[in-house]
Amino acid sequence: MAIKKVGVVGCGLMGAGIAQVSAQCGYSTVVREVSPELLEKGLKGIEKNLARLVEKGTITEAAKGEIRARLQGTTSLLDLKDCDVVVEAIIEKLPAKRELFAELDALCPPQTIFASNTSSLTIIEIAASTKRPQRFVGLHFFNPVPVMKLVEVVRTVATDAAVYDEMVAFGAKLGKTPVRANDSGGFIVNRLLVPYLLDAIRALEEGAGSIVDIDNSMKLGCGYPMGPFTLLDFVGLDTTYYISEIMFDEFKEKRFASPALLKRMVLAGWYGKKAGRGFYDYADPANPKPMEL
Ligand code: 3HC
Repeated sequence: MAIKKVGVVGCGLMGAGIAQVSAQCGYSTVVREVSPELLEKGLKGIEKNLARLVEKGTITEAAKGEIRARLQGTTSLLDLKDCDVVVEAIIEKLPAKRELFAELDALCPPQTIFASNTSSLTIIEIAASTKRPQRFVGLHFFNPVPVMKLVEVVRTVATDAAVYDEMVAFGAKLGKTPVRANDSGGFIVNRLLVPYLLDAIRALEEGAGSIVDIDNSMKLGCGYPMGPFTLLDFVGLDTTYYISEIMFDEFKEKRFASPALLKRMVLAGWYGKKAGRGFYDYADPANPKPMEL
């Protein structure tokens, strides 16, 4: 099946990134948000990213115009009815995702392939809300989507082998390196990344070093682009906490258990960069200050 039209549901950080990459890679793309305000915010972010690419000389002004022309924003799910692939990137809540896919299932022709960008939920539990679990995969992108070169392509017990291969090829056509992952908690990346981030918090709790020294250790000693606390603030403490809870529930292993400090910071609403406060205080965003915890 030739993929021509791609639907993206959700125009937040991840959805907007996926829609941008899809349009940049030549696909006619329609992205849906629930309200005109959220849609406009997402499209503005894409516009800004494309303008930056023109400024840097990565793409021409004409190419930007073509990308923009391939990208349609909508608040109506009906506009996704003729898509060959629909990628969902909405809130990480199982009931919301199941409800959305049940609706899409009734709307889209049987050959449309469905994909979820969930980072932590079990794909088959979402796929089971449709009558086409064999045409359902996980497509897990990484933030910031236009920059990060990986996509995890997740296969469930029900995914058809040909559909799966097609989605691996689709991931490559989006300019990413696709990795084949099974539908187990956290797939590949979060299975390794989440215990590392939680361990950094435990190291801080146990006094191994300060926020800045632990960050610098991993950044300068191991060549990571961001230290663990900067990355935690970037990913979101709420998101990390939520993923760790799901993974702990699945594996019942201590390495996935949320440290007390993380839970308390989430309860306080210190979600990281997006909240202006996490392990760092972003009152001056260009010069984040470590929190005194
Ligand atoms: N959107 C688009 N482009 C962006 C961007 C964004 N949000 N942020 C940065 N960029 C681009 C910049 O324009 C720049 O492009 P250029 O090299 O062509 O000029 C390039 O990325 C590098 O940006 P900067 O020079 O501003 O800054 P850095 O060199 O520090 O890179 C970073 C920023 C790419 C975010 C880098 O710090 C990094 O790779 N951090 C780690 C990110 C990471 O680990 N992400 C995965 C999180 S886990 C996840 O998403 C999974 C989930 O399930 C939890």
